[in-house]
Amino acid sequence: MMQEIEQLGPWFHNLHLPNGEQTAPNHRLGDFPAFKWRELEHAIPADLTGWEVLDIGCNAGFYSIELAKRGANVLGIDVDPHYLRQAAWAAKQFGLEDRIELKQMQVYDVARLDRKFDLIWYMGVLYHLRYPLLSLDILSQKLRKMMVFQTLSMPGTEVAEAPEDFDLNDRQRMLETGWPKMAFIEKKMAGDITNWWAPNHAAIEAMMRSCGLRVIQRPGHEVYLLELDEELQKQQQWNQSEYLSATGQDWTEAVKEKVGDKNQYMVSGDNGKQ
Ligand SMILES: C[S@@+](CC[C@H](N)C(=O)[O-])C[C@H]1O[C@@H](n2cnc3c(N)ncnc32)[C@H](O)[C@@H]1O
Repeated sequence: MMQEIEQLGPWFHNLHLPNGEQTAPNHRLGDFPAFKWRELEHAIPADLTGWEVLDIGCNAGFYSIELAKRGANVLGIDVDPHYLRQAAWAAKQFGLEDRIELKQMQVYDVARLDRKFDLIWYMGVLYHLRYPLLSLDILSQKLRKMMVFQTLSMPGTEVAEAPEDFDLNDRQRMLETGWPKMAFIEKKMAGDITNWWAPNHAAIEAMMRSCGLRVIQRPGHEVYLLELDEELQKQQQWNQSEYLSATGQDWTEAVKEKVGDKNQYMVSGDNGKQ
């Protein structure tokens, strides 16, 4: 067993295997991600029987395994085949291979999955993306109940009230502490060139709202529990054609809805007369 663990390494998840062995006992973050799981496990229903779960960036499958243990059917996706090999092996060690399906996919590919999920597990991935808001738009379209989200973030928890509208010259307010902001990391953070973005708390809440999601709990540092909110969804300034284009789908019909009326207005309305 020890030999298999070594062959499959290096490991980012320290899994506690049923025989007592661990995959990364000397992890630089400590007993990771078990200590994170302990912060939030009570916020998740104990019985997930019948739940369809999507674990994005599943890595070696720590969370997929914990959720499958609670009865869920899990689809774990990751871009990296090295981690997917670990996850497949680990699922077998726990006898959960029938509950955990694994696929090599990008988060953006979820847009073309013809199914929805009761729970989307979205931890430790957003800040690694070049297109973070696109990923949230995609996931909000595929969610039925609940999302668990975690990201690297900027310090602070202040939240300024979002104005309905504001003046073009009133830019100072965007420098207020509680204004939604996302810091861009051009080079590296902690030696990692894939750390691109760090939103502040206000930006996390605001981006989620604009995707129709409401924060219902913050069970741990940088961890958010979210639910779909019908009222927020109704208010969404949704641009279907842009979404379809960004996800590689045919958008030509959808764009008519956006520009059709305006073009008519420009021909026959005030603009046309000038
Ligand atoms: C920091 S690890 C987080 C792992 C796990 N979700 C957790 O919270 O412990 C990021 C994981 O996301 C995967 N990943 C990175 N970019 C991705 C993408 N575009 N789509 C899906 N997975 C991605 C990486 O291969 C890696 O396994």
